[in-house]
Parts: sequence; structure tokens; C-alpha cells
Amino acid sequence: MKTIGVITSGGDAPGMNAAIRAVTRLAHGRNLEVLGFEKGWEGLLTNKFRRLTPRSVGGIIQLGGTILHTSRSLDFKREQCLEQAAANLKLNNVEGLVVIGGDGSFRGALDLSKKTDTIMVGVPATIDNDVFGTDETIGFDTAVNTAVDAIDKIRDTAISHERIFIVEVMGRKRGFLAITVGITVGAEVILIPETACKTDEVVEVIKENARKGKKAGIIVAAEGCGKVSEVAKEIEEKTGSEVRLTILGYVQRGGTPTARSRFLASLFAEKAVDLLCQNQRNKVVGLQNGQVTSMDLEQSCCMTKPLDLGLMKLAEMLAT
Ligand code: F6P
Repeated sequence: MKTIGVITSGGDAPGMNAAIRAVTRLAHGRNLEVLGFEKGWEGLLTNKFRRLTPRSVGGIIQLGGTILHTSRSLDFKREQCLEQAAANLKLNNVEGLVVIGGDGSFRGALDLSKKTDTIMVGVPATIDNDVFGTDETIGFDTAVNTAVDAIDKIRDTAISHERIFIVEVMGRKRGFLAITVGITVGAEVILIPETACKTDEVVEVIKENARKGKKAGIIVAAEGCGKVSEVAKEIEEKTGSEVRLTILGYVQRGGTPTARSRFLASLFAEKAVDLLCQNQRNKVVGLQNGQVTSMDLEQSCCMTKPLDLGLMKLAEMLAT
């Protein structure tokens, strides 16, 4: 193998730059050329890339976002696009492609793998932490810390005004971010898509807390739960407490990656380059029980990552 490509795709995640840097430097250490395709799959379609060198990726480990830019190429699934991307990989003699992104990006890599001899390797990077085959994704820890920092501030005003705050966090259709953030901010209630949101039960918790003298409260809700403004209204009507809603939104995707996100990026990159050098076809790297591992791309794409619902019980017991 002489040349590899690297792309960042889907929603950006803090630590993607650390991954680009590590892939580039480790690949160069093995005498591989590295082409960084721009804007995710789009760069493969338009053949837009830059040569990455150990020097050109200097000074980026601490930067959020991705220097290669990213996109959600909905078009990419179209047969013609896959053929075009495969042709560009061939044109540039790209024998291995490192795809840094989430499960949507890996599905794109799987589709493309059927049209090309280029070996794909997925590096899980998404704030949602919803990729099957890894306990953690690059960027998740940073997003958790960003949300915790924001909610700690909200807690101050909640206590001062004796109000209930619903804070919506990201996570797409899954509750990994919400449950982790909820436990670490000491949320009184956590709402996740994996369990039905029963507003009446939330109302009971708020009323019971008020009886105990706890008049302020934080409800962390995953965006996948749907319209929380209606839940807020109902809680206000039924409890008589003042309820405010904060949607944290894209602030969770930006910012300096934590040490943890950078470290994970470096470990994943090492495994990804190793797999390519061993000619192991179409894998996704991951962290399982503290070990850096890999699994087949196809398996990672077709499985759903389980969420430990025992954590909901823990959160409930801690919120007394
Ligand atoms: O996948 C990361 C994520 O931030 C999700 O949490 C969120 O639902 C989605 O991306 C937002 O996507 P977009 O950037 O396309 O608006």
C-alpha cells in the first residue's frame, strides 16, 4: 500500500482534527502518502483533496471542528455517485480510505466498498455515541462536558428562582448523551427516546420533590424525545411550578476537544492505520472494555448499539 485517503463526514465532532493528525503522522511513519478529501463524501465525488503531511497537520490537535470540512451527502447513496467516488479513488491510487464519522458515514463506506477495491476503515466520531461496536466515540466526552458546564450554570438560576428547567441535549434518535449528561449534572428527571416519556410520571416527581422542599429541578431531555415545549407546558399547568426550556443545540458540537476525545482519536487512528497496513478489509475500530478493537464494517452498520437502561434506575436513585 502506497497511498491512503482520509475524510471526515456527517456531523462534526470535537477530536476529528486529532484523528486526522494522528492518521497522517502514523501513515507517514509507514511511508504512506495521505490525501485528505474535502467536505466528506463530496470531496470524493469532485476529486477535491489536499496532500496531508506531518507538518501540515501541526497545531490542529486542540481545534474543534474539522480542517477537512464535512457534509451530509444525501446524494452519495445514488449509484452514479458511488461509481464516481470509486473512479476517483482509482485515479489517485488510493488503496485505503479512513472514514472518520458516525454510523451514517459508515453506511456510505459500506455502499462504496461494494464498488471499489479500496479498503475502508471507519473511525467512530460523533457526539451521539451511537455507533455499534464501540463503548465510546470521538467527541462524545467533549460534548458531555460542554453540556454539563452549561447545565451547571442553569442550575444556579433554577435554584435562585425555584424553577424547573428542561434542557434539551442532542443525540439524534438515541439517549446516550442525555443519560450521561443527566447523571453527571444530577438531573431530577432524564427523558430518553429508548423509554416512553410519561409526562404524568414527571409531574409526580416534580410534585414529590416540592413536598420534600426541593423546588428547583433540572430535566435533561434527549432531542429524540420530540417536542419538549409541550411537556414543559403540561408540567407547568399540572405542578404550578415555573418551567423554562433551554435547547443547548450546536454548542455541544463545537469547542476544544477534551483530553479524552484527543486520546481516543489517537488510539483509534493507530488501529485504523494498522488495519490498513495489514490489508484487513472494511473494518470499524472501537473501544470495548478498555481495549481498542475492530469489527466488520457490515456488522457495525447493521447492528443497533444497546443503551444500558440500568443507568436510568441509577439516575432516579441519585436524584432523591
Ligand atoms: O449526529 C450529530 C448531531 O449533532 C445530532 O446530535 C443531531 O441530531 C444532528 O447531528 C444535527 O444534524 P445537522 O448538523 O445536519 O443539523
